[in-house]
Amino acid sequence: MRKKVTKAIFPVAGLGTRFLPATKSVPKEIMTLVDRPLVQYAIDEAREAGIKDFIFVTSRGKGALEDYFDMAPQLEQELRKKGKDDLLEILKGTNMDSGQVAYVRQHKPLGLGHAVWCARHLIANEPFAVILPDDVIAANKPCLGQMVEAYAEHQGNIVAAMEVPEDKASAYGVLDIKEDMGRIVSTNGMVEKPAPGEAPSNLAVIGRYILTPTVLRKLNKKQTGAGGEIQLTDAIAAARAEGEEVYGFRFEGERFDCGSKAGFLQATVAFALAREDLGGELRAFLQDILYSEKAAQ
Ligand code: UTP
Repeated sequence: MRKKVTKAIFPVAGLGTRFLPATKSVPKEIMTLVDRPLVQYAIDEAREAGIKDFIFVTSRGKGALEDYFDMAPQLEQELRKKGKDDLLEILKGTNMDSGQVAYVRQHKPLGLGHAVWCARHLIANEPFAVILPDDVIAANKPCLGQMVEAYAEHQGNIVAAMEVPEDKASAYGVLDIKEDMGRIVSTNGMVEKPAPGEAPSNLAVIGRYILTPTVLRKLNKKQTGAGGEIQLTDAIAAARAEGEEVYGFRFEGERFDCGSKAGFLQATVAFALAREDLGGELRAFLQDILYSEKAAQ
C-alpha cells in the first residue's frame, strides 16, 4: 500500500546571518509577519496537508522556538479571567500535543542536507516532507497540501519549483527538465547553485519537498557540494541517478523569501494589506508616502 506523508522536518538550525544583529538572540523563525512568527505559517501549512509529526532541527540559541509551542498556563489563565476568548483561540493554534513535536540538534551548520540527515532516526522507511519556514507561500490551497495531492498521483520525490530570472538562478537549486507536463515536470536531476550561464533551466527549487527514504541514505555519505555545505539537492540528484523519479511541482501561490530582508519586508506588506483589521490603514499610508515621494522628485 502507498504510504502517506505524515512527518515533516523543519530545518531551523541556520545562523540567520542576513538578519544580524536581530538573530543574535532571536531565532529567525520567530520573527513575525505582522503578528505571527514565520514558523506558525509553516506549522499551519503542514497541519492542513495532513502532517502529524513535526520534527525541528535546531541549534544553540533556538530556545524561544521550543517555548513557542509550549502551553502558557499563566498567560491563558489571565486571558480566561478577562474573558478574552478570541486571544485564547489564537493561542490554541500555537500549542502542540505532547509527543507531536520533536527536536533534534544540528551541532554545526554544515548545510541544509546535513540538517535533514540529523533527523534520520525519526524517519522510518516512509516518505517525508521538508519545509523551510523562511519560504512563506501565500496561496488559496497551501503549497504542501498541493504537493501531497501530486504525490498521491505520482509518488517519487517532489520538489516545489518556480520560474526565476536567468541572473538569479545561481542562488538556487535548478531543475534539469526531462519532460514538462505543465504543473508537474519530470527531471533528469538538479544542480545546486549553478555558475552563471550554466543553469539547466529557469525552474528553481524552493523550500518545500516530499522525499523518499533513499534521499536520507544518499545524505549518509555526507559529501559536501556548493559552498562547502552538505546539500539536500545533491542527495536528491543522487536518488534520481539511481533511477528514482524526481518531479518539479509548479505550485499555485506567491512565494516570499523571508530569509532575505527585501523578501521579508515584501511579505510583511502583502500580509498586512490582506488583513481586514490593518489593510485599509496601511494602504492609505503607503499611497500617501509614495505620492509624497513622487511629488518631491
Ligand atoms: P539559509 O541558507 O537561509 O541559511 O538556510 P541561514 O543560516 O538560515 O541564513 P543566512 O543565510 O545566514 O542569513 C535555509 C534553511 O536551512 C536551514 C536554515 O535554518 C533555513 O531554514 N539550515 C541551513 C539548517 O538548518 N542548517 C544548516 O546548516 C543550514
